[in-house]
Amino acid sequence: MQIVILAAGQGKRMRSSLPKVLQPLGDRPLIRHVLATAEALLADAGSAARPVLVYGHGGEQLQATLTGVDCHWAHQASQRGTGDAVAAALAHIQPAGRVLVLCGDVPLLRVETLRTLLASPPDALAILTAILDDPSGYGRILRDAHGAVHAIVEQRDASPAQQAVREINTGTLLIPAAHLAGWLGRLDADNAQGELYLTDIVAMAVADGVPVVGVPAAGEAEIMGINDRAQLAQCEREYQRRQAERLLLDGVALRDPARVDVRGEVTAGRDVEIDVNVILEGRVTLGDGVRIGAHCILRDAVIEAGVRIEPFSLIDSARVGPNAVVGPYARLRPGTELAADVHVGNFVEVKNSRLAAGAKANHLAYLGDADVGARVNVGAGTITCNYDGANKHRTVIGDDAFIGSNSSLVAPVTIGAGATIGAGSVISREAPPGGLTLTRAPQKTIPGWQRPLKNKGK
Ligand code: UD1
Ligand code: CA
Repeated sequence: MQIVILAAGQGKRMRSSLPKVLQPLGDRPLIRHVLATAEALLADAGSAARPVLVYGHGGEQLQATLTGVDCHWAHQASQRGTGDAVAAALAHIQPAGRVLVLCGDVPLLRVETLRTLLASPPDALAILTAILDDPSGYGRILRDAHGAVHAIVEQRDASPAQQAVREINTGTLLIPAAHLAGWLGRLDADNAQGELYLTDIVAMAVADGVPVVGVPAAGEAEIMGINDRAQLAQCEREYQRRQAERLLLDGVALRDPARVDVRGEVTAGRDVEIDVNVILEGRVTLGDGVRIGAHCILRDAVIEAGVRIEPFSLIDSARVGPNAVVGPYARLRPGTELAADVHVGNFVEVKNSRLAAGAKANHLAYLGDADVGARVNVGAGTITCNYDGANKHRTVIGDDAFIGSNSSLVAPVTIGAGATIGAGSVISREAPPGGLTLTRAPQKTIPGWQRPLKNKGK
């Protein structure tokens, strides 16, 4: 089996400068979904053939986005229709076996569905069809009195009677390769769109005595072609529905499966709970018993067992150790590593820092480029002054230190183990272990102080 993917169309109806097949669905461009399906099918068939990608519009953007993809690139110079697009791929096609034609704008087709198409008689031209309540826009499958397929007619060329047909062409065809070049050579553009329609080969196959079969797809959602942003949004919903279903079947409790978005890969342990409006991006690992509150965003994160992420927290490229508590309203930036039982509370930002077991920063703090020891308590309003305007410096805080509220730790600086920092201090030199260090203007009182009075002008 060989595979051709059609992706040369501009996608005018998207009204976008991005080529249609590069529009995102979940975490990847549309075309990546189709390529993944193609690769799975080829691997299935034990085929070493590489898929042929027909490109045209936005070719450079496409090639730049798909670096590392193992496929043949076939250029279709001008977009003269799907038949012309397949013709552009002919140079890479062996005239033996069958050629599966996939559309780059139909991203949700499942491998299992395509397997049913591949199970059709090996000498037949097989069409993946679907029966839709609203078939408008699609090519219609025309069957004779005995139910045999004899042609496909495009919406714009169809008579009112033909338009009433609800069985449609999904755009996915499996074509005997030996006939392909001959049929494509006989296409003409004598139709409503002035294009070379791949679908016209169906009538040619019938005329040549090649068996034609229509194989119905089970689901309506998976055959959806994307032509505009409304359809893209619909596809995204369907994609997310599948992602949520997978999480549920993996044992994750979703408070509302319609209100979680997965844009990447999630691995979850047992008894994980996810509240509404959570977005998971990249690679996210959730250990046993992790609970994620509403409105959190996690990207490339490892969250270990028993962790509670409270609502409205953002976690990006970070690791959270067992039983830690994060948020509400916490922000963990790249390079953050929290050990077991750490608490990072509301309006606390942590970047490129390690917090050892049991450390706490419960309110309103910034910890950047810091090593925070075990059981350290970071008071509200404390910040590391890690940036001098040119370079970043580290702050090292020893185990069991206590940092009084509203302190500024001017890096590079070290706070010794067990040290106490008085509230409101600006610490720019080493604070020795064990002692109390503080920088504070002495408090004074002016007795009987008279506040200024308002001028009573005319
Ligand atoms: C096509 C089918 C229609 C089917 C529908 C399913 C034809 C003539 N019509 O219609 O029967 O119901 O798909 O979604 O085949 N492309 C190229 N080069 C071109 C033209 C198109 O590469 O010159 C690519 C597009 O990028 C797209 C695919 O082929 O990925 C389908 O093209 P599109 O214009 O969207 O066809 P439809 O009108 O949707
Ligand atoms: Ca289409």
